[in-house]
Amino acid sequence: MKISIIGAGNVGGLTAMRLAEAGFGDIVLADIAKGLAQGKAFDLEDAGSILKFNYRIQGTDDIENIKDSDIIIITAGLARKPGMTREDLLNKNAQILKDVCLKIKKISPQSIVVVVTNPLDLMTYLALKITGFKSNKVFGMGISLDAARFVNLINKELNIPSTDIEACVIGSHGEGMLLLPRFTTVKGVELNELLEDEKIKVLIKRTLERGQEVVSLLGSGSAYFAPSQAILSIVRAIVKDEKRIIGVSACLNGEYGIKDICIGVPCRLGKEGIEKIIEFDLNKEERPLFLKSAESIRRNLDLIKPFCHGL
Ligand code: NAI
Ligand code: 2OP
Repeated sequence: MKISIIGAGNVGGLTAMRLAEAGFGDIVLADIAKGLAQGKAFDLEDAGSILKFNYRIQGTDDIENIKDSDIIIITAGLARKPGMTREDLLNKNAQILKDVCLKIKKISPQSIVVVVTNPLDLMTYLALKITGFKSNKVFGMGISLDAARFVNLINKELNIPSTDIEACVIGSHGEGMLLLPRFTTVKGVELNELLEDEKIKVLIKRTLERGQEVVSLLGSGSAYFAPSQAILSIVRAIVKDEKRIIGVSACLNGEYGIKDICIGVPCRLGKEGIEKIIEFDLNKEERPLFLKSAESIRRNLDLIKPFCHGL
């Protein structure tokens, strides 16, 4: 098994460590910045000596080294800097995604691609269009991180271990994320039965703001401990053919009445990547909110269409 990570920044570096410790196979950590990936790979190898564990990890600034990977995780991209608009960021990251995905298409055509770069749902769509891979092979990590944040806040509120809580989040990884208390359970009991509506609303708001809260506290960069853990769960589900249901940004083809956008939905993940998209029976309050989230993604697709020209 060969797993490549493109982008050796905060998320990519920590993902490399988690994958190395999980022992899933050979790892390639690639970054455009000279020396960065190689330095992190050397450091990780040294850590392996303390653990008495022989990682096989290669750090490189030459993307050719991702050739023939089984799984590729894309964390390459920029974070928003002061003075940069959302659109500037989108254009910069879309160009990075385009360059990286053209390369993946050429030298690693059989790989499963997990996109992490933001804005997540748009970048996942772009990766899908540029690689031209089947839609079960290209998906994005985002809402499983949001669900983990919701679980953590419920855990703190109810003082019940996270292992007993299943949270459900669908929609975009961003402002349109939709947390579903009706499908969020503690040992099978709906959250609605355990907490008052007002309390749930507060937890939902805090979950929505959690990524930004971390950004503000860090002062520079965004979250990476929980994101890399969420990536590990997805990779494990593929490598071990677990058939686990995990929320990912997937291209819909009629599910939920939606076509041709990538949006967060629960999926069964196994060795083929997405093996099934799970459709929840949303009620009359939930469905319009999900469709609204989908529409806001669709409106923004125009911004990335220029990057798809000439494919
Ligand atoms: P970072 O700035 O620490 O690392 C990004 C790395 O990408 C840098 O080392 C940079 O040199 C590299 N890079 C840029 N262009 C490249 C190219 N063409 N080829 C190879 N490497 C390239 O950022 P961080 O914190 O690791 O985040 C990475 C991305 O992931 C950001 O877009 C961030 O918003 C996103 N993110 C998404 C999450 C999610 O839930 N989907 C969670 C956390 C971060
Ligand atoms: C997060 O939610 C930045 O998407 C990233 O923390």
